[in-house]
Amino acid sequence: MKQEIMTIVSQKQLAPRIFQMTLTGKLVDEMEKPGQFIHIKVPRADLLLRRPISINQINKEAQTCTIIYRTEGDGTKAFSELKAGDLLDVMGPLGNGFDVDCLKTGQKAYVIGGGIGIPPMYELSKQLKQKGIEVVHFLGFASKEVAYFQEEFMALGDTRFATDDGSFGVEGNVGNLLLSAIEKERPDAVYACGANGMLKMIAHVFSDNPNVFLSLEQRMACGMGACYACVCHVPGDESGTSSVKVCDEGPIFRASEVVL
Ligand SMILES: Cc1cc2nc3c(=O)[nH]c(=O)nc-3n(C[C@H](O)[C@H](O)[C@H](O)COP(=O)(O)OP(=O)(O)OC[C@H]3O[C@@H](n4cnc5c(N)ncnc54)[C@H](O)[C@@H]3O)c2cc1C
Ligand code: FES
Repeated sequence: MKQEIMTIVSQKQLAPRIFQMTLTGKLVDEMEKPGQFIHIKVPRADLLLRRPISINQINKEAQTCTIIYRTEGDGTKAFSELKAGDLLDVMGPLGNGFDVDCLKTGQKAYVIGGGIGIPPMYELSKQLKQKGIEVVHFLGFASKEVAYFQEEFMALGDTRFATDDGSFGVEGNVGNLLLSAIEKERPDAVYACGANGMLKMIAHVFSDNPNVFLSLEQRMACGMGACYACVCHVPGDESGTSSVKVCDEGPIFRASEVVL
């Protein structure tokens, strides 16, 4: 993990409130694993805490990385006002990243993303494909209007969509897509990032599979294991005193390791 002032190469809007930003800097040399994140200082003196955002793509040759984020509050709104050439103070890469080594060439992975949990799944899918893993994507959005990155995922493999309002793909959440898929086949590993409810459902549906990896979101302060702001409880701990830190022990855990 290092800290660097990175330069913005480009910024574009993909959908309402959804932005894609590409950054360049030496920090990219450190980025290896899909599912890791960067911790970005908001360029505003009154906002002290950094904001964690997942790495969407790593391009070593161009020494760039890309993030996709949704404007939620003042921090992400400030990011959306930046343009090419502006500088950002970035710490990273942080977090453990998805385990792609548990799979062998020819095996099958389900890659599942919901809403703003979708960005890190793209780099994951790229790396799985490079290893010769067959990937099936399940992507869930609120509506067609806020959908993004559909073609990019389709270029990597089978991609199925669900929207809450049925305006694109199957109506409902990704659970509907998964239930019909597992009637025909069982994946060797499952990777997911999205809302807690979606992760809970996935842990339940694939409870017999040891290779279910969930990326958790917790509010963070330091981002590097020092402040305990981001803890998550572990199973079998009646006293409620044992926990794991999502920032440095995660954000990715096997489904059996955490209480959602
Ligand atoms: C590991 C990780 C990866 C993430 N990846 C992405 C991503 O790729 N794209 C994306 O759009 N968002 C991502 N998020 C969520 C993103 O960090 C928050 O939306 C963002 O921090 C909100 O900041 P804000 O100032 O706009 O909102 P505010 O609500 O004003 O933020 C106030 C405070 O709460 C924290 N906070 C608010 N919401 C969250 C949240 N959901 N998770 C963690 N901290 C939060 C902020 O860090 C800040 O300290 C990720 C979160 C985590 C933990
Ligand atoms: S955010 Fe400080 S320990 Fe995780």
